[in-house]
Amino acid sequence: MMLAGKKVVVVGGSSGIGLATAELAKKQGADVIIASRNAAKLDAVAERLNVIAIPADVTSDQSVADLFRRIGPVDHVVLTAAQLKTGPFKTVAMDDVRATMEGKFWGAWRVAREADIRPGGSLTLVTGFLSVRPRPNSAIISAANGALESLARALALDLAPVRVNAVSPGVIDTPIRAAMPEAARREMLDRIAASLPVRRVGAGEDIAQQIVSFMANGFATGSIAYIDGGALVN
Ligand SMILES: NC(=O)c1ccc[n+]([C@@H]2O[C@H](COP(=O)([O-])OP(=O)(O)OC[C@H]3O[C@@H](n4cnc5c(N)ncnc54)[C@H](OP(=O)(O)O)[C@@H]3O)[C@@H](O)[C@H]2O)c1
Repeated sequence: MMLAGKKVVVVGGSSGIGLATAELAKKQGADVIIASRNAAKLDAVAERLNVIAIPADVTSDQSVADLFRRIGPVDHVVLTAAQLKTGPFKTVAMDDVRATMEGKFWGAWRVAREADIRPGGSLTLVTGFLSVRPRPNSAIISAANGALESLARALALDLAPVRVNAVSPGVIDTPIRAAMPEAARREMLDRIAASLPVRRVGAGEDIAQQIVSFMANGFATGSIAYIDGGALVN
């Protein structure tokens, strides 16, 4: 088991990529803590996976400080938490674009500052392939992901010997699109799947595998892994 006896925190661990990462880390022998805002959802997942749940909101300095004060020293931290609000560049509300950066970018900054990661341990940020392959009406997501990838590379120096990496997913079928009408969501995912070299969209486990590999590989730092089913060569 790759993570036997290691303490792993997944911020955003109640859903999607974070949930899959918590599950895989647990299978690999880690003691896992998951954190996110909705305590009821978090507790239900924690009970199912047999891991510890601590409610936290990455948009709050105090909440992130409290989370890591409770946790103490840890081997690996993963951040998947984000709630993205986007729209046409000229008209999208400034409150929405600021909220996107507040969670995705400043959330990562807070977590990196407050986590007490043991030497040789790791921090893995989850970004997204829009950083290098923009799409219309999502400039703020491209910018947040690009900033996060730069942050991961910079923190590989500032937090050394703690290792810092980023995983940049392509389109992954998770509850992140739960607000879309189901038929439209399915049609969009099917269309993207058909266009990709691998002929499918990703699952949370596809990204979890890379995240766990960054935890376990003591030579990986300052790296960005694009795991996107071939979207970037398409
Ligand atoms: N799915 C994709 O296609 C895709 C593609 C590229 C990149 N990504 C990136 O991958 C990451 C994970 O996405 P996902 O698909 O796994 O999303 P998801 O299924 O919606 O999960 C997001 C998780 O983050 C938590 N969260 C959201 N805001 C939070 C906050 N302010 N504080 C603490 N926890 C918070 C959510 O729980 P609560 O709501 O209870 O807090 C949930 O556990 C995101 O950064 C996303 O941008 C996803």
